[in-house]
Amino acid sequence: MRSAEMDAFVARVRDASDILSVVASYVPLKRKSGRYWGCCPFHSEKTPSFSVSPEKGFFYCFGCHAGGNVFKFISMIENIGYFDAIRLQAEKLGIPMPDREKSEQDLARERKAADLRRMMEMAQTFFHNCLVKTRYGAAGLQYFAGRGIGAGIIEEFGLGFAPDAPGKLRDAFLKRGVSEQLLLEGGLVTERPNGVYDKFRNRVMIPIADDRGRVVGFGGRVMGDGQPKYLNSPETMLFNKRKLLFGLDRAKKAIREAGRVILVEGYMDAISLSAAGVKNVVASLGTAFTAEQCRLLLRYTEEICFCYDSDEAGQRATMRALSIVSGTGARARVLVVPDGKDPDEYVRKHGGDAFRELAKQALSIGDFHLDYTFRLHDLRTLDGKNKALKTLLPVLKASGPVERNAYIRRLQSMLCIDEGIIRQEIAMYHDDGVQEEYRPRVERQAVRTVDNAVRRAGRALLRMAWRDPGVAVMVVAELGGEPFPYLLHEKLLRYIADCAETGVSLSEEELAQKLGVEAEEELSHALIEETPEKEGSYETCVRVLLLAQLKKAFEEHRLRADSMEREGNSNFLQELTKSQRIKQRIDELHQQVEVKETNG
Ligand code: UTP
Ligand code: MN
Repeated sequence: MRSAEMDAFVARVRDASDILSVVASYVPLKRKSGRYWGCCPFHSEKTPSFSVSPEKGFFYCFGCHAGGNVFKFISMIENIGYFDAIRLQAEKLGIPMPDREKSEQDLARERKAADLRRMMEMAQTFFHNCLVKTRYGAAGLQYFAGRGIGAGIIEEFGLGFAPDAPGKLRDAFLKRGVSEQLLLEGGLVTERPNGVYDKFRNRVMIPIADDRGRVVGFGGRVMGDGQPKYLNSPETMLFNKRKLLFGLDRAKKAIREAGRVILVEGYMDAISLSAAGVKNVVASLGTAFTAEQCRLLLRYTEEICFCYDSDEAGQRATMRALSIVSGTGARARVLVVPDGKDPDEYVRKHGGDAFRELAKQALSIGDFHLDYTFRLHDLRTLDGKNKALKTLLPVLKASGPVERNAYIRRLQSMLCIDEGIIRQEIAMYHDDGVQEEYRPRVERQAVRTVDNAVRRAGRALLRMAWRDPGVAVMVVAELGGEPFPYLLHEKLLRYIADCAETGVSLSEEELAQKLGVEAEEELSHALIEETPEKEGSYETCVRVLLLAQLKKAFEEHRLRADSMEREGNSNFLQELTKSQRIKQRIDELHQQVEVKETNG
């Protein structure tokens, strides 16, 4: 899709984006000689080789060679497509997408969404103020205090309180121009025969935000033993429990840093863990874990550690969650909290450090399955043994050789079945599970590449050509008769020259699309580099490339002459002459350099 309108939109978003602040919101950066440095988020390293140049609008990692502009960065770190990255950034900056023939219906939907968002935001402020600023809140504060939740956590999670009155929120919102219709649609009030009344009353309120921190619903908890324990917002166009995870907006960064997310069942578990300093935690919203939620998490990490209640229901939910995860590319682990507790109770009793210790020993899927299955079946009976083995076959089939051996050993001793038989069963088992489509997050590796004066000169020319495409035209005219020493530079320079000659403005998007990611990364490398003055001038760089071309040609002719002479082919003299002529040009060029250097 390339239209003038779209181009203008992309350019507008790029101009409004500050790559430095975008990157810095994910990666800690330090300033050093005009550039910013940090540890690369795309491969693991201890010393920073990841660099951002705000003036040029590019990033580049000297370790794994990831590089590109602000959109490339967003698409890599969020693990979304390039165009989605542009859209995400546009939304963040409040730049509207060019209207592609929106129907009246689309527009109405957008208006409705915006109205709902505004109202939910207002409601969050309302509940929060009720808790911390009004006398109604006293009961709520006391309840939270009793669960170890103080002012800090109340602020962090924007917790609130719904007063014990029929229509406090209703009256306040109607007065501020919110329609009854919208209040109903957002589920803040419920309809009764003689009017509408506040849905949430005398409950502590937990705002639920989407992954970008926008409040889309609430969970309201009774402060005693009333029913239901939690009253939740109804599903709306913004609030879909299967697609949301409580706390994700706050936990993203910690999840990335920890390389794993801890998934709990209850809002309170997530809040308590966070209060204890375990920040990489999210909660599902009272529904079973879904494939959508799994995909959402895969943007930030591959490892999901399920920490459900250790009662029977929790363990069953864990089994179900594991089956959702399998085939998505995520790695699952299971953390079973000891002595029948839920994570909230555990962490309040033993503290964050104890929980972190526990988390280190989270079980692999296989071990969890084995434990679970052994508990479920009566292993003293033949029937029980058979059932246990049958349930475990898919797990055994799916595990790697090392793990599989360990599981087989455990099975053998628990079931007293011969190892050979177990292996035979595994071999005969066919997995016909349907696998979900998923974009794996690619872990990059640091790559050492040879670098030399020729490559550096090529990059310097690229840098100049990017600023002034006319430069590329000149380079191609001077060197284009022979292959360039470095093919990637040739591709890039020819592309830029073509654009200049046909009057097409340069676009990183087009370039990346046409020439591929390697070219895009090389360009980023070129743009981010500060080349020493001496290497910098156009003439010097062209000469370096020309010399490299000539030396290669000289070698080729000389070698051919040698082999022709050996074969007794008398034409070898011609080759020799050619190589001599090239040698002469090389010497001349060297002389020019020397003359220039003594003159200058
Ligand atoms: P829990 O009962 O484990 O909730 O239910 P919790 O968060 O640990 O609550 P506390 O510690 O007793 O205060 C797990 C989740 O199931 C949903 C909520 O999302 C809750 O966090 N749930 C539970 C409801 O939606 N409604 C209910 O009545 C109960
Ligand atoms: Mn609980």
